[in-house]
Amino acid sequence: MSEKILDGKKLADLLNAQLKKKINQSFNKTKIQPILATILVGQDPASKVYVNIKHKTCADIGINSVMVDLDETISKKHLLQKIEEINNDEKIHGILLQLPLPQSLRGDTEEFLERISYVKDVDGFHPINRGRLFDYHEELSACTPKGIVKLLTHYNIELAGKHVVIVNRSNLVGKPLVFMLLKRNATVTVCHSYTRTLENITQQADILVVGVGKAKFITKEMIKEGAIIIDVGTNRLDGKLCGDVDFNNVFEKCGLITPVPGGVGPLTVSFLLQNTYYAYKNQLNL
Ligand SMILES: NC(=O)c1ccc[n+]([C@@H]2O[C@H](COP(=O)([O-])OP(=O)(O)OC[C@H]3O[C@@H](n4cnc5c(N)ncnc54)[C@H](OP(=O)(O)O)[C@@H]3O)[C@@H](O)[C@H]2O)c1
Repeated sequence: MSEKILDGKKLADLLNAQLKKKINQSFNKTKIQPILATILVGQDPASKVYVNIKHKTCADIGINSVMVDLDETISKKHLLQKIEEINNDEKIHGILLQLPLPQSLRGDTEEFLERISYVKDVDGFHPINRGRLFDYHEELSACTPKGIVKLLTHYNIELAGKHVVIVNRSNLVGKPLVFMLLKRNATVTVCHSYTRTLENITQQADILVVGVGKAKFITKEMIKEGAIIIDVGTNRLDGKLCGDVDFNNVFEKCGLITPVPGGVGPLTVSFLLQNTYYAYKNQLNL
């Protein structure tokens, strides 16, 4: 069983341990610790869980983190002011605005992301960092796609010439992943909710990346024999965390597969920390 598993948790542990050493070395030189500020607006329970995981992993590897907890009634003007304040705080090297924002602010999400200083933008959502990715510069780019590419390369999965089908076109996952895969010479097809006869396309994938947010969405009829499956989805089913792929159903037929939990999730957090360290080094000219 385990030889078919792409173990994201194990890889994330390895990357985090390596990063911890680098941070320690940088601290010994500068006596300055990297600091990540996370801005959480409102009390969304899932967002709180994600932010707490990020803070705990930061603490484990030597990044200080500050939680900026804001009431969900905060006005647009005050949230923009808060972002500006953190931008101007030289002690803080990375800023993360936890999404989704409460309904009243959601329509302005892009404006808030744009206001975060692009040198502190550890999520890679600022238009400058998105634009740089267009030219294949990945330094401060989205964490989940970075984690997916690292997982594939870590397991020596050749990307050049492979047909990768991504079922997701969000700014968080599908769109940045397209550029990372093109950079590595894959042939990329992107599917979304308007795609017709989805299974005809997913069946052609050498590598299938799925992030639709629907449990058991991908079944064995939708994949090619031996396909590599990357399951980005995080859903709750019968009180348990599960992905978008019907894991037991596809397991025999697929070549390799990420589990949920323990696949893409831990790598997303790991790359948030890598990005924070990059931002810190960049700001300190290390
Ligand atoms: N593990 C991690 O670290 C991690 C990180 C990020 C996200 N996630 C998870 O990944 C999932 C997606 O996240 P997201 O932020 O990208 O969500 P999102 O913005 O809602 O994107 C979902 C994507 O799935 C497409 N889709 C929905 N129903 C479909 C269908 N029936 N057929 C084909 N495509 C369909 C949507 O198409 P349209 O564009 O047409 O709407 C959209 O492109 C969620 O479960 C989220 O929790 C996990």
